[in-house]
Amino acid sequence: MGMELKGQQSHRMVILAAIFILMTLLILYGSNNAMDDVYAPFHVATNHALMYTDLKKWAGREGYVPFNGNKEMTLRCNNCALVTSSSHVLGSRAGEEIDSSQCVIRMNDAPTLGYERDVGNQTSLRVVAHSSVFRVIRKPSEFLHQKDSNPVLIFWGPPNKFGKDSKGTLYRLIQRVSQTYSNLSCFSVTNSKMRRFDNLFHTETGRDRQKSHSWLSTGWFTMVIAIEICDNIKVYGMVPPNHCLKKPGSKKMPYHYYKPRGPDECLTYLQNESGRRGNHHRFITEKQVFSRWAKQYNITFTHPNW
Ligand SMILES: *[C@@H]1O[C@H](CO)[C@@H](O)[C@H](O)[C@H]1NC(C)=O
Ligand SMILES: *[C@@H]1O[C@H](CO)[C@@H](O)[C@H](O)[C@H]1NC(C)=O
Ligand SMILES: *[C@@H]1O[C@H](CO)[C@@H](O)[C@H](O)[C@H]1NC(C)=O
Ligand SMILES: *[C@@H]1O[C@H](CO)[C@@H](O)[C@H](O)[C@H]1NC(C)=O
Repeated sequence: MGMELKGQQSHRMVILAAIFILMTLLILYGSNNAMDDVYAPFHVATNHALMYTDLKKWAGREGYVPFNGNKEMTLRCNNCALVTSSSHVLGSRAGEEIDSSQCVIRMNDAPTLGYERDVGNQTSLRVVAHSSVFRVIRKPSEFLHQKDSNPVLIFWGPPNKFGKDSKGTLYRLIQRVSQTYSNLSCFSVTNSKMRRFDNLFHTETGRDRQKSHSWLSTGWFTMVIAIEICDNIKVYGMVPPNHCLKKPGSKKMPYHYYKPRGPDECLTYLQNESGRRGNHHRFITEKQVFSRWAKQYNITFTHPNW
C-alpha cells in the first residue's frame, strides 16, 4: 500500500515536472518570438557608424520617374528651407527668411495661403504621400502661384499605388494634372527606390521596417530627398527626438499647423512610437536618425533650435 502511494506520487511529480518544463519552454519560445516582432520604442541601434550610407552618393535621378514625358528630376540647391507641418512654426514669423532660401521644401497638403508670415509663400518641392494626393490636387493654387521656377512634386507610395504597371486612379489623376500644368514637374518614387528607403531605415535603426510593423513617414522621405538635393538645409518646426519624452506634461501643440483643433503632436508621436498591433510611424526613432544625419550633413534646426 505504502509502496503504491509512493509510486503514484513520484508519477505525479514526473508529470508535473514535465508540464512545468513544457510551459517554461512555451513561454520562452513565445517571448523570443514576440521580441522579434515587437517594436521596442525609443532606442536606436548605435553600432551602425561603420556601415552608414552616404546619402549624397545614394542620390540618383533614376529613383524618380515622371508622370509625363521624359523629364528628369534635376533639382539641386545650395541652401534649402525644409518647412515641416508642425504647429511649432506658428508665430515664428520666418516666412520671409524661408522664401529667401534658394529652395523651399514642403510636405503633403501643408498650405501657405493664410500662413505666409510664418511659413512663406514659395514652394520649390513638395513631397506628397499617396494618402494626401487628393488633398493636394484639390488645391492647385497652393503649388501653381510661384514667382519663379517650376515647382516639383514627388509622390511616394506603395508599389501598387504609383508603380509603372498600376495605372490606377491616383496615377491617372496626377498624370492629368501634370499634363494640364506644363510648368509643374510631377515624379513618383520608383519601386526600387522605395525598397532602398526601407533598407536605409534598416541600416540606420537596426530594424526591418516591415517586421517591426513600421511605416515610414513623409518626413523620412522628405529629409532624405532634401539631403540628396541640398548642400545645406534649415529645418523649420521640427522638435528634437527627446522633446516628447522629457516633458510629458508640456503644453499641447497641434500635430499640424493648419489643423489647430487636430491631434496633439506629442500624443501622436508617443502613441505611434509605442504602437505594436498594426503599422505605425516611428516619428521619434526617425528624429534620432535625423539628429545623427545633422552631424554628417549640413542640417540645422530652428523653431525650436537644436
Ligand atoms: C508672398 O508673396 C507676395 C507676392 O509675391 C510678396 O509680396 C510677399 O512678401 C511674400 N512673402 C510673404 C512672407 O508673405
Ligand atoms: C504655371 O502654369 C499655370 C497655368 O498654365 C499658371 O497659372 C501659373 O502661373 C504658372 N506658374 C508659373 C510659375 O509659371
Ligand atoms: C555645407 O554648406 C556649405 C555652405 O553652403 C558648403 O560649402 C559645404 O559644401 C556643405 N557641406 C556639405 C558636406 O555638404
Ligand atoms: C499615428 O500618426 C498618424 C499621423 O501620421 C495619426 O493619424 C495616427 O492617429 C497616429 N496613431 C496613433 C495610435 O496615435
